[in-house]
Amino acid sequence: MEKILNAKQAKVPIWKSFDLIGDLVLLRAPISEVEISRNLLDEYKRIGEALLNELPYVKGVFLSLTPVMGEFRLRKVLHLAGTSRKWTYYREHGCVFKVDLESAYISPRLSYEHSRIAKLVRSGEVVVNMFSGVGGFSIVIAKMANPARVISIDKNPAAHRLLVENINLNSVEESVVPVLGDSVDVIMESLKGVADRVLLPLPSFSPRFYLAALEALGGEGVLHFYEFVELEKGERRGDLIPKAYKRVETVLRRVMDCAKAVLLGGRIVRSVGPRLYQVSLDVSIDKNLCG
Ligand SMILES: C[S@@+](CC[C@H](N)C(=O)[O-])C[C@H]1O[C@@H](n2cnc3c(N)ncnc32)[C@H](O)[C@@H]1O
Repeated sequence: MEKILNAKQAKVPIWKSFDLIGDLVLLRAPISEVEISRNLLDEYKRIGEALLNELPYVKGVFLSLTPVMGEFRLRKVLHLAGTSRKWTYYREHGCVFKVDLESAYISPRLSYEHSRIAKLVRSGEVVVNMFSGVGGFSIVIAKMANPARVISIDKNPAAHRLLVENINLNSVEESVVPVLGDSVDVIMESLKGVADRVLLPLPSFSPRFYLAALEALGGEGVLHFYEFVELEKGERRGDLIPKAYKRVETVLRRVMDCAKAVLLGGRIVRSVGPRLYQVSLDVSIDKNLCG
């Protein structure tokens, strides 16, 4: 694998890191669709064929043509070799997920976070997942913990359909409640004060999302933020969590200044670009002073 994706041998720009999602491989390259000429395409296809030969469990190879983009966090992919089917079954933590490379967000790089959060959930909790995608957090929580409900909201109809399938595949119909819609609207209309824990797995620093998350909580609870933070010149990795929390706290105070927030912990989830990182922050909230 190393050899095949070695930049010199590959003869085309290609990144060494790739995602294995079920029986599909997703490669990345610093190049867009318009830049892929006939010659380059042939070389990318050759790399795809070489990967198929090297990895017998891989049935299809794709190249990501864009980063994840837009409200639904989707990417465009180019078929290189093997099956052209873009959907597959992906497994993690004893759960199985039907996923689609193009129509709904999927990243195996969140796998550790899925189980980390599941281990924090206490028996009987009501969890609201504001950006559930195909169910990564929600289904792992339902399988590993014993929540009363995991209300799982997503605005992308394709992600919602896959979530419903995944709930059935994993037999978690009793605890995972799929909701299609804008999470802010859903919470403000029908989920105020119901949650012990709210997940916000969509980087945004958005006051609108933060207010809805606070509204979803009962008197006390925990919010889990996933934000992108850049390291500026002179800053070190150790600065990322305090820097992210400062911004989170500022937005929280702006939307509900009576709520008391305490940072329980933070972790660097992954690097998402040069000096750009995704961090998770676990924040306890007490709204009892809000009257
Ligand atoms: C990063 S993905 C979620 C990843 C998912 N939690 C996981 O573990 O795989 C963000 C999701 O938020 C959804 N989304 C974006 N804006 C939304 C909104 N206002 N309300 C509900 N869902 C939204 C997108 O469709 C996308 O599926």
